[in-house]
Amino acid sequence: MIPLVDMHCHLLAGLDDGPRSQADAVQMCKDMVAEGVQMAAALAHQNEHYPDVTPERIRTAVRELTGALAEAEVPLTVFPTAEVMANPDIEGMWRQGALLSVADRKKYLLVEMPHGLFVDLCHTVTQFRQEGVSVILAHPERSAELLHDEGRIEQLVRLGCLVQVSSGSVTKPRDRRDASALKSWFRRGIVHLLGSDGHSPNRRPPRMAAAYRQIVTWAGNAVADRVGSTNGLAVLHGLPFHAPEPQPRRMRWLARFW
Ligand SMILES: [Fe+2]
Repeated sequence: MIPLVDMHCHLLAGLDDGPRSQADAVQMCKDMVAEGVQMAAALAHQNEHYPDVTPERIRTAVRELTGALAEAEVPLTVFPTAEVMANPDIEGMWRQGALLSVADRKKYLLVEMPHGLFVDLCHTVTQFRQEGVSVILAHPERSAELLHDEGRIEQLVRLGCLVQVSSGSVTKPRDRRDASALKSWFRRGIVHLLGSDGHSPNRRPPRMAAAYRQIVTWAGNAVADRVGSTNGLAVLHGLPFHAPEPQPRRMRWLARFW
């Protein structure tokens, strides 16, 4: 299997609702390596619930985790990242340097919807694009407004938004309707990146391999390799990558034969 890249994993002990200790974080990293993961966005939430989580605290925590991984001889490379909650002042916070970009390279910003709320992010995506930053929308499949209205997610993608889906949504969709919609996203080229959204060694472990295999079944090896590996590699190194235009939606009756 191609080396996997986990684009969304809470690995910074004590910073948010992720691992409680460095030992737990190192155990999660060992489990990730066993899953075939070689690189990961090691992130913490930046939102009103965690006002003390600053870019500098995340950078420091990732330096400490990198040291612990070297000591334990765990071959996982971790990149400092924030999961930023969308808010009306997000552009102002960015300009003030209050938000940490993916891998601290100022090219990509990982943004999640406010919990339990759907907000239109078209303006945000466009504004960031004008500043040379691509918004990556974290687990948009959780939002029924996006998952079951492909026009909305397609509009965001066409504006330059990248889409990161959680591995658990692939392996354990809520129902058949969700599974069918997500399968369509992968087949149409709506999804760019995969992340485990791991939080702990046991309760919310960082799983990637089963989702990769499911994506192979749904959309083929080429899609699974891009989403599970090479796109993430580019993003973590601040490089552009070619995201093909989303393919047109299939008619419902045609989809049965496809
Ligand atoms: Fe998360």
